[in-house]
Amino acid sequence: MPFPAERPRRLRRTPALRRLAGETRLSPADLVHPLFVREGIDAPVSIASLPGHRQETVDSAAGVVAGALQVGVSAVLLFGVPARKDAAGSEAWNDEGIVQTVLRSLRGQFGADCVLIADCCLDEYTDHGHCGVLREDGSVDNDATLELYARTAVSQARAGADVIAPSGMMDGQVGAIRTALDGAGFADTAILAYSAKYASVMYGPFRDAADCAPRSGDRRGYQMDPANAREALREVSLDVAEGADMVMVKPALTYLDVIRRVREAIDVPVAAYNVSGEYAMIAHAARAGAFDERAAALEVLTAIRRAGADIIISYHALQAARWLREE
Ligand code: PBG
Repeated sequence: MPFPAERPRRLRRTPALRRLAGETRLSPADLVHPLFVREGIDAPVSIASLPGHRQETVDSAAGVVAGALQVGVSAVLLFGVPARKDAAGSEAWNDEGIVQTVLRSLRGQFGADCVLIADCCLDEYTDHGHCGVLREDGSVDNDATLELYARTAVSQARAGADVIAPSGMMDGQVGAIRTALDGAGFADTAILAYSAKYASVMYGPFRDAADCAPRSGDRRGYQMDPANAREALREVSLDVAEGADMVMVKPALTYLDVIRRVREAIDVPVAAYNVSGEYAMIAHAARAGAFDERAAALEVLTAIRRAGADIIISYHALQAARWLREE
């Protein structure tokens, strides 16, 4: 038997060689921590479906951000859970609303050290749980909703958001928000567009955390069909043309091919949202003894980076940052 001349294993021999030859790097600076803040509670509330995560108060949210900065994660994505919901979701653009209050508090305490990203949508604020206002037949009225996203974005920018992240998948949302921000004097506020957001079962635990499951129907009339990838490229180019500074693919794991194609098609930063259900699968499987959570989470996050994501929003962000520092 001839011995093989090509020996890829040479570069796998030691951890130091593997690090040197590694094609993909994962670092705490790539990660964004999703942060839920709830109005009307005086202590954090655990989220059963997302082990280790809580709905925070205004004060406890600051503690979470301080901890994130300590491990090298310097961006958070804020979601609000208001005390009062109505058909239009009017708490979303209340200058004294929960997200606005937390934005002012974090901006005051951390200055420019932490990138404050505000999710801009109505589903956490509407009593019916949809991402926009409804017509009589129960469908979401695209253009009436744009007006409300614009108000919400301006209110969030006024409260100190660095980045507005529209997640409702309305047509024209990026353009409407860009125009409103510019008109209100917030030309420097950036937009991270949830461009290719699929109608996924993987948002289950989030809907529990943010109390925003639709009371009737589903989101397939506005979120993307999991069967489509070319359509994601179309969504992404529309958003970039409307002024998106960064784009997002969501979820991540079942759409790695889409992340790759988007990364190759455009040159703005690409974010991937490693969503609540993806976190829950790993957290619960690890708790059931299927595998080690650390190894599983780092493998998943590395795979999302390898697919082409520059930025990863993940419920494992803080733990992963700690694990990466130990390596
Ligand atoms: C909508 C929004 C959702 C998520 C982020 N923004 C919920 C949805 O579309 O149902 C899901 C995030 C996750 O599952 O981690 N505001």
